[in-house]
Amino acid sequence: MYAIMGITGQIGGVVARTLLAAKQPVRAIVRDAIKGQAWSDRGCEVALAIIEDRASLATAFREAEGVFVLVPPSFDPLPEFPEAQAIGETLRSALVEANPERVVYLSTIGAQAKQSNLLTQHTIIEKAISGLPIPVTFLRPAWFMENSSWDVAPAMQQGVIPSFLQPLDRPVPMVATADIGKVAAGLLQVAWNGRRVIELEGPYRVTPNEIAATFAKLLDRSVRMEAVPRVSWEALFKSQGMKNPIPRIRMLDGFNEGWIDFERGEVGSQKGTVALETVLKTLIARGH
Ligand SMILES: NC(=O)c1ccc[n+]([C@@H]2O[C@H](COP(=O)([O-])OP(=O)(O)OC[C@H]3O[C@@H](n4cnc5c(N)ncnc54)[C@H](OP(=O)(O)O)[C@@H]3O)[C@@H](O)[C@H]2O)c1
Repeated sequence: MYAIMGITGQIGGVVARTLLAAKQPVRAIVRDAIKGQAWSDRGCEVALAIIEDRASLATAFREAEGVFVLVPPSFDPLPEFPEAQAIGETLRSALVEANPERVVYLSTIGAQAKQSNLLTQHTIIEKAISGLPIPVTFLRPAWFMENSSWDVAPAMQQGVIPSFLQPLDRPVPMVATADIGKVAAGLLQVAWNGRRVIELEGPYRVTPNEIAATFAKLLDRSVRMEAVPRVSWEALFKSQGMKNPIPRIRMLDGFNEGWIDFERGEVGSQKGTVALETVLKTLIARGH
């Protein structure tokens, strides 16, 4: 049986649907019983657990052949990342107690970076669960193509998309969540030993200008990217309610300056198959 966290989200949902399609037993880990009903209707066991609670996680992971661990995104962490430190310790002790056969942890591109930034949260959690006597795969995907859900409204309404990824003609490693979920489901089903890292991106790297051009093609209107000046980011993010925007800014710097990339570079990453156009078509169809 495979226990899946984040099953109501983008990637966990794909992991679970892929396993169910392969007739594999799935335990849906949810924090809301009402959301669990849809998975129960599909034949899944349901376990209630939250990332902050060791006991509920340990129960949810128990007797699993594989556990897919997904930590919810956090864009505005406190300085020094105390939330990630706590999650790392909670996960570590829940995994020790439950002792599943293997774990796939959804990490991120750049988790190996030395410079502090938003992704350091995954660096901290990877470290916390690295030394376990359980085989662990750190699946490190690229920038999600689905992050362009924020681009749909500006593309449709103004034909101008604000971009924090700059320069606009710089290729960025990106991947569709469908590819990530399928790869994770495959990893869970085949045993390995020890700790390993799998880096994953899409079929080719994508520039911000290419995102605009693809929207233009799909919407049949002119669409261009506009770089948001770096000097304005801190005030902008604070005006949007962020308390501690520096980690997010440093993450964007990391992509733009190239120090957030794969440990093994483009040649060493696994490649997905889903193209940007396919993802943008879906985002446009659902309106975001
Ligand atoms: N965006 C990127 O470019 C990128 C790149 C690399 C890695 N990542 C990583 O990918 C992950 C996000 O994946 P995603 O997009 O699939 O997530 P998502 O769609 O935002 O889903 C988040 C999931 O976490 C659940 N959740 C929220 N709070 C929880 C809690 N306290 N305890 C347990 N579960 C909780 C949600 O359940 P509810 O339905 O109950 O809310 C939902 O199932 C993050 O770790 C992020 O750092 C993102």
